[in-house]
Amino acid sequence: MIRVTVEVTPRPYDVVIGHGARRELAHEVARVAPGAKMAVVVSQRSVEESGWLDQIDPGIEHHVVLIGEGEDDKSLSTVELLCRRFVELGISRHDLVIAVGGGMVSDVAGFAAATYHRGIGYLTVATTLLAQIDAAVGGKTAVNLPEGKNLVGAFWQPLAVLCDTEVLSTLPPAEWACGRGEMAKYAFLGPDTPSAEILSLGIDEQVARCVAIKADIVADDEREQGRRMILNYGHTLAHALEAIGLEHRAQGNEDRVAGLRHGEAVAIGVIFAALLSRQMGRIDDDRVELHREVVRRFELDTEIPPGLDATDLVVAMERDKKAHHDLTFVLDGPRGVEPVLGVDRDDVLATLVEMGAHR
Ligand SMILES: NC(=O)c1ccc[n+]([C@@H]2O[C@H](COP(=O)([O-])OP(=O)(O)OC[C@H]3O[C@@H](n4cnc5c(N)ncnc54)[C@H](O)[C@@H]3O)[C@@H](O)[C@H]2O)c1
Repeated sequence: MIRVTVEVTPRPYDVVIGHGARRELAHEVARVAPGAKMAVVVSQRSVEESGWLDQIDPGIEHHVVLIGEGEDDKSLSTVELLCRRFVELGISRHDLVIAVGGGMVSDVAGFAAATYHRGIGYLTVATTLLAQIDAAVGGKTAVNLPEGKNLVGAFWQPLAVLCDTEVLSTLPPAEWACGRGEMAKYAFLGPDTPSAEILSLGIDEQVARCVAIKADIVADDEREQGRRMILNYGHTLAHALEAIGLEHRAQGNEDRVAGLRHGEAVAIGVIFAALLSRQMGRIDDDRVELHREVVRRFELDTEIPPGLDATDLVVAMERDKKAHHDLTFVLDGPRGVEPVLGVDRDDVLATLVEMGAHR
């Protein structure tokens, strides 16, 4: 097993990566929460049907609670249902939540753990590529509101994360594409020339490489006061696309944007960020082409879904970035990828139109 430590204070924690890492759960629970008597395993039907839940053993009394699947169930109502179930089961402040699933499960179960009894310990067994390389690591937990993604949440670090690459064998192709979108993002965050070289490594090493990049950034800036923002490369447009997708699904519209997965949206967002950087004179054509080449190697679509309006996308981005009171993007430039405040709305609109959105 590969271990990567996330050096946050006051309590660093380990991410354990490898084939069969889920079998380390009882050992990790005993190590990081020796006083816990009971655990709630939060998961989903698809994970159960894939056979992975049967093999989850925290080594203490535990109860499984399944939550719904998809962004619509990543909601405050799900958190309320979970917390009420914790009360019924008699979960105390010293007990544990164990998320077994993808980023949706770790975001929701992590947020429930962050707020139940003002915060109890949680561990994650990450079962999607996206969760292993990104969502399960770093302590960001959140749920959506109808108005946008991840608008209610908390920083709440897990006690340990297990990334079992064996369970990826049942992951549907769309979920692999989703993970590859986030993996493509990491290609632009290191000190080296962006490339898709990571794809030549074995899956354990691919996961570990991404986790190490994320762990380094999180240790430097746990609460996203500065550097951590670069992890959001490609995410401003991605979240806007996902918010519009949520609205379309609520209206029963099953078009391309409604079906877009998070990582797929990030891949489109990375290309958008490159084009916006060029529009602002921060990078040249060759650097944009490098972005296209790298993202293409991860076999990801980079087009904005058809029929979207540029102004609607900007409104969704402004809502997502409310915390900054202006349009903030993570953009490439002479110093590499960095946050850029106060981006001109017209540059954003022009770039969206260049990518095919309606004016
Ligand atoms: N907190 C963070 O830092 C962070 C970072 C990135 C993304 N996210 C969030 O993560 C979420 C997306 O996570 P995701 O891409 O993992 O999707 P997901 O959690 O929605 O999982 C996708 C589907 O795959 C199923 N599944 C999970 N593991 C499986 C397995 N091994 N075999 C078969 N099916 C399996 C799930 O049940 C679900 O139906 C988004 O809500 C996003 O906002 C959070």
